[in-house]
Amino acid sequence: MSEKMSENKVTIKKGDSVLKGVGITRVFGYGKSRNVAVDKVDFDFHAGEVISIVGESGSGKTTIAKMILGLIGVTEGEMYYNGQPRDISSHKKKKEYWQGIQAVFQDPFSSFNIFNKIDDLLIDCINLMGMKHKSQEEKVEMMTEACSFVNLKYAELTNKYPFELSGGQMQRLMIARIFLMKPKILIADEPTSMVDACSRATILDMLLKLRDEIDMTIIFITHDIGLAYYVSDTVYIMEHGKFVESGSAESVIITPQAAYTKRLISDVPKIHEEWDLSTV
Ligand SMILES: Nc1ncnc2c1ncn2[C@@H]1O[C@H](COP(=O)(O)OP(=O)(O)O)[C@@H](O)[C@H]1O
Ligand SMILES: [Mg+2]
Repeated sequence: MSEKMSENKVTIKKGDSVLKGVGITRVFGYGKSRNVAVDKVDFDFHAGEVISIVGESGSGKTTIAKMILGLIGVTEGEMYYNGQPRDISSHKKKKEYWQGIQAVFQDPFSSFNIFNKIDDLLIDCINLMGMKHKSQEEKVEMMTEACSFVNLKYAELTNKYPFELSGGQMQRLMIARIFLMKPKILIADEPTSMVDACSRATILDMLLKLRDEIDMTIIFITHDIGLAYYVSDTVYIMEHGKFVESGSAESVIITPQAAYTKRLISDVPKIHEEWDLSTV
């Protein structure tokens, strides 16, 4: 299976378009309850780029994330993956797509089957990546490396269940999974809201370090424009299902054009100061 996959693998260089959306729209409901959650948005994300999608609650951020992941359908618009029209029409094609695109969600506990031991969770990732044929020894080596990347000790996790870990350990385990799967694109929907300030900084740093290591594209989804400024190359500002402004983090946040962006920024008192994580 792994050979077959490497055959159709497209080589992507840093800066190439990895995910592009044209006129992406999502409508929920009909008639009186019709709700346009995402309204004709365009985007173009590149290899190795860190992007933030920023907006208030209900602006459509999670709906975009779910469409990008292929968890819900697109009502209208075209999505391009690695320069080709995205095709996730069959189960097989979806599985291939998910080798290249992964997500971390708000609640780490919801991402795991709590009845699976930690070892099995990690081995599942290895198998999903077409490395089922590796020896048990090689798999343990890969799991050990992934755990140590996020400062967890594999030996202490083996034979444990997810509910035996703390919230912070679970978040790190989630990143260990990403480390094993090495997706080209990672979507992090408010990844740090569950954890305390200290773990929040650690997790961001780990994700950014992983970006440097495997040239991953990261899409952060957040209501926190200060966080967006701190972590991203490019920022998209979302209001009522539309992107009202986008561009480099510098230009959007230092010289905002849209009234909505100005309002988001005025809500953050210290935006122009050095972002000092020790005081968050
Ligand atoms: N499954 C759904 N069914 C109906 N409406 C939905 C569904 N998911 C989201 N919505 C609506 O779409 C809009 C955008 O929601 P969401 O994408 O979750 O926003 P955000 O993540 O920015 O808070 C909201 O009005 C929400 O009520
Ligand atoms: Mg959301």
